[in-house]
Amino acid sequence: MYQGKLAILCQQQDGLDEAISLAKNLDVPLYQELSQSTSELYFLTWREGCLKLLDRELLKKGGLSVDIEPRYGEQHSWPAPKKGALAQAIGRKTKTIVDATTGWGQDSLHIFRMGYSLRCIERSPIMYELLKDGFKRLSNKEWVLQLSLNTPELFFANACDVLVALEDKPECIYIDPMFPTKRKKSALAKKSMTVLRDLLGDDEDKEQLFAAAAKTATKKVIVKCPDYAESIAGKPDESFKSKLLRYDVYLT
Ligand SMILES: C[S@@+](CC[C@H](N)C(=O)[O-])C[C@H]1O[C@@H](n2cnc3c(N)ncnc32)[C@H](O)[C@@H]1O
Repeated sequence: MYQGKLAILCQQQDGLDEAISLAKNLDVPLYQELSQSTSELYFLTWREGCLKLLDRELLKKGGLSVDIEPRYGEQHSWPAPKKGALAQAIGRKTKTIVDATTGWGQDSLHIFRMGYSLRCIERSPIMYELLKDGFKRLSNKEWVLQLSLNTPELFFANACDVLVALEDKPECIYIDPMFPTKRKKSALAKKSMTVLRDLLGDDEDKEQLFAAAAKTATKKVIVKCPDYAESIAGKPDESFKSKLLRYDVYLT
């Protein structure tokens, strides 16, 4: 668990009420300034209009937040073209998707921008708070308002528990659990993923999550995994490769 590792930092009077309620929700201390004796390694704080996660190294830098801007090279219009390995794995005919492991929301936001109908699940209270903040910022974006788009619905839950109970079953369930890393440090994924791994650990219940997803999705389950990892549910029906990773597709 993250208790003992995380605190809320609120260095200005403005926003103190929100900080108090976040500290209460997450059951972690709230600091208005940092002292030598502060033992936590991670902090949630508001900067530049975003909720950010910082470690001590990032305290003087920007911090990590849910990035709602299109990825490099992605078309800045909605819906963006359905291209690339993830879009191939989802398929053009699929309409409804549940992202069962939303994390920093980067895959979810890519899926949303391609025009799919998306619901998102996240079980970590920290990531849920960061996602809520990101999706709220997204809902205020000019292009989202102009096109009257609904941002993805976000659920705070363990997907293993809620997927099978969904009344409105999605065609596709997307899962991107945390795998143990095998790469050398220099080749490690982005800082955001290193922090996530350190705070939350590997997702040990991937097989259980896959089983729930396979029972629920009406068409397919997509599992994103590092290129070195074995498929989590035997030989997939299809597999699409991208740089350093794979999308394994299981038809249900
Ligand atoms: C590797 S990250 C996902 C990254 C994400 N695809 C992105 O683009 O930012 C895995 C996330 O899934 C969440 N997660 C793992 N298993 C879950 C489950 N059974 N239910 C809900 N969330 C889960 C973890 O808490 C973590 O935030």
